[in-house]
Amino acid sequence: MASITIRNLDDEVKELLRRLAAENDRSMEEQARVMIRAAVDGQIGPVGRIDQIEKTLRDLTSSHNLAVPIAAAPGKIVPRGSLSGKRILLIIGGGIAAYKALDLIRRLRERGAAVRVVMTSAAQEFVTTLSVGALSADHVFTELFDRNDEHDVGHIRLSREADLLVVAPATADLMARLANGHANDLASTVLIATDKPVLMAPAMNPKMWAHPATRRNRATLGKDGIAFIGPAKGEMAESHEAGEGRMAEPLEIVAAIEALLDVSPKPLSGRRIIVTSGPTHEPIDPVRYIANRSSGKQGHAIAAALARLGADVRLVSGPVTIADPAGVKTIHVERAQEMRDAVEQLLPADAAVFVAAVADWRSENSAGEKIKKVVGEGPPVLRMVENPDILAGVGHHSQRPGLVIGFAAETQDLLRNADAKLRKKGADFIVANDVSHESGIGPSGVMGGDRNRVRIVSKAGVEEWPEMSKDEVAARLAALIAERLKTIVV
Ligand code: CTP
Repeated sequence: MASITIRNLDDEVKELLRRLAAENDRSMEEQARVMIRAAVDGQIGPVGRIDQIEKTLRDLTSSHNLAVPIAAAPGKIVPRGSLSGKRILLIIGGGIAAYKALDLIRRLRERGAAVRVVMTSAAQEFVTTLSVGALSADHVFTELFDRNDEHDVGHIRLSREADLLVVAPATADLMARLANGHANDLASTVLIATDKPVLMAPAMNPKMWAHPATRRNRATLGKDGIAFIGPAKGEMAESHEAGEGRMAEPLEIVAAIEALLDVSPKPLSGRRIIVTSGPTHEPIDPVRYIANRSSGKQGHAIAAALARLGADVRLVSGPVTIADPAGVKTIHVERAQEMRDAVEQLLPADAAVFVAAVADWRSENSAGEKIKKVVGEGPPVLRMVENPDILAGVGHHSQRPGLVIGFAAETQDLLRNADAKLRKKGADFIVANDVSHESGIGPSGVMGGDRNRVRIVSKAGVEEWPEMSKDEVAARLAALIAERLKTIVV
């Protein structure tokens, strides 16, 4: 998103923005973004008198209103000073996104972090050491050997005197150099000399990001324990190109830093949340079963994100090939009936999120022995019976959790079907995703892939979230759940 220059606004509008921002504990820029988003979504009517506009904006963009992207402003649930006492070494690579590193420094310092900066020589083509130094209030380090520099602290000290190293923007070149162990300038030497966690925020042209060499380097760095945030899909700052390669927004990078340093607050501590995930397998005989293409990635990511916010998470998972998420108690089941029994035993709970792709039907009598193919008898006929609807059961249960969230995977009439499910199943929200052929199934689709584009359907209306990784959807949904549970007394 382009940056917003508050200074250029009319005084009256600026004053209104200031008040609304203060009420919602947002920066003026964040408040403006939320308002623009509300306008784009068609929630603000024709422009009228300033007092009418004020009322509409206050209603629409207050932090309790679902219509605003709550987790788009992680500052909302992360108090200022959350990074106080933490030392961040920021390495700025040479890319057009380097300008966003300036905002990142501001955001980190606002939260109490001490920020030291290393700039590559290419980075200095995009932003100056002068502006970086002014924002970080420290010397900016650029040279590997600078005997004349009174500030020279050496690369070992630089890399060790930090709690976390952040590379933003991480260019294709910086990633390649670290993946291959190069140490030919200050940035790469510091990265290889460190014993602290490293977070990279890649930013590059979509073709460069998609190149097999960059994919290889990304995979190697991941295996080496480097954490990543982004890149996002969208408009590039240069050359009117769009695609995957845009650097994550500074506030998203801050949220990732807080998660890595585990300083994020635990708004869900003391809350028990049930999550279902993965497919179910419905046996036909001891070796055959009916299944679906759910990978469990989205459900597991949600369980992990809720646990990071302090929730006591019980994950009921169908058969998947991915690992149990850290910090979560996982119960493994195979069949829909087992999943239902496990969920019901976990009640009462504060919230329940039903992500599993439960088989709607099962074979009435699964054979005790393997069904044999007998020449001349033709194929066996399977009589199907309906499985219990676990979400609907909990949505109408006497011990119904305060917050019940379902998912809807649809190939047609997405919103109409999601709305019908909301009502029929007694859910508070339905997270709807399109699994039609265009966006749907396979390694790059919703089912099986790593990305998702969802809409949040509730009685209050529909909120569209942009396409993002399943981890980002999970983090945002966890923030939404934390926000909602605040209003529900235990
Ligand atoms: N669900 C469930 N138990 C079932 C079927 C679905 O708990 N037996 C939950 C899913 O976990 C999801 C929601 O209900 O949260 C919607 O699932 P979906 O398969 O899209 O809906 P169905 O009710 O099965 O409707 P249809 O398959 O006809 O679209």
